[in-house]
Amino acid sequence: MKIVGINGSPRGGRSATLQLIEAVLEGAKEKGAEVDVVHLIDLDLKFRNACSACFQEGKCVDEDDFPNLYEKIKAADGLVLGSPVYFDLVTGQMKLLIDRMADGIQCQSLTGKYGCSVATSGDHAEPAVVAYLNHFLQMLGATPVGNVGVAIGKDPGALAKAKETAHELGKTLAEAIQTRRQYPQIEAFHKRFQEKFKAVIAGEKPEWPGDYDHWVNQAWVW
Ligand SMILES: Cc1cc2nc3c(=O)[nH]c(=O)nc-3n(C[C@H](O)[C@H](O)[C@H](O)COP(=O)(O)O)c2cc1C
Repeated sequence: MKIVGINGSPRGGRSATLQLIEAVLEGAKEKGAEVDVVHLIDLDLKFRNACSACFQEGKCVDEDDFPNLYEKIKAADGLVLGSPVYFDLVTGQMKLLIDRMADGIQCQSLTGKYGCSVATSGDHAEPAVVAYLNHFLQMLGATPVGNVGVAIGKDPGALAKAKETAHELGKTLAEAIQTRRQYPQIEAFHKRFQEKFKAVIAGEKPEWPGDYDHWVNQAWVW
């Protein structure tokens, strides 16, 4: 069972958000997970350029660190997304990654994976950021199992408390992966999304052969 933590903070190893990611991963490790952390700031990631090569060819053709990172994400059983709040939203680094995974929505490329999200803020908007990150996971087919957000400017002890919650969340994440835990509302969401994109993929077959092939390979459309 592989779980990858993705840190969207430009502060990399000094990041408060990383402390939450690491707490989740520690909890998951106790349940037998093999874990790894990626700092987006350390990678060469270009902005999405809307070339649509991934739709047509089924893979990204940019020569930066994204194709390898996407393979790593696809090879994981679980994902932990973490971002500080920047002006009420995720950081640019995290949004860049999200936009680069453009084909993930119609390919439902995180299907079968579980995930969770963490965020830190000075004093507000961390609930919106974790909700957004989990929604992103869910839109791509993954099952989010929870979140931890903490405003660290409000209370000096808040981060330590949040790390305890994050540690428990890591155990929940690993157990959900191990038992293939079902979340009926999320299942229903995935079913609706899959129906929607089945129609899109069938309609766009001539334009998006890469995506269509992916659906055929998954036996979702024929
Ligand atoms: C550019 C910038 C924008 C920020 N915007 C917000 C904000 O909108 N709301 C908030 O509560 N904190 C905001 N903060 C504070 C960070 O979210 C907070 O310090 C966070 O814990 C940093 O996490 P990190 O150490 O993982 O980078 C901002 C910080 C920076 C540098």
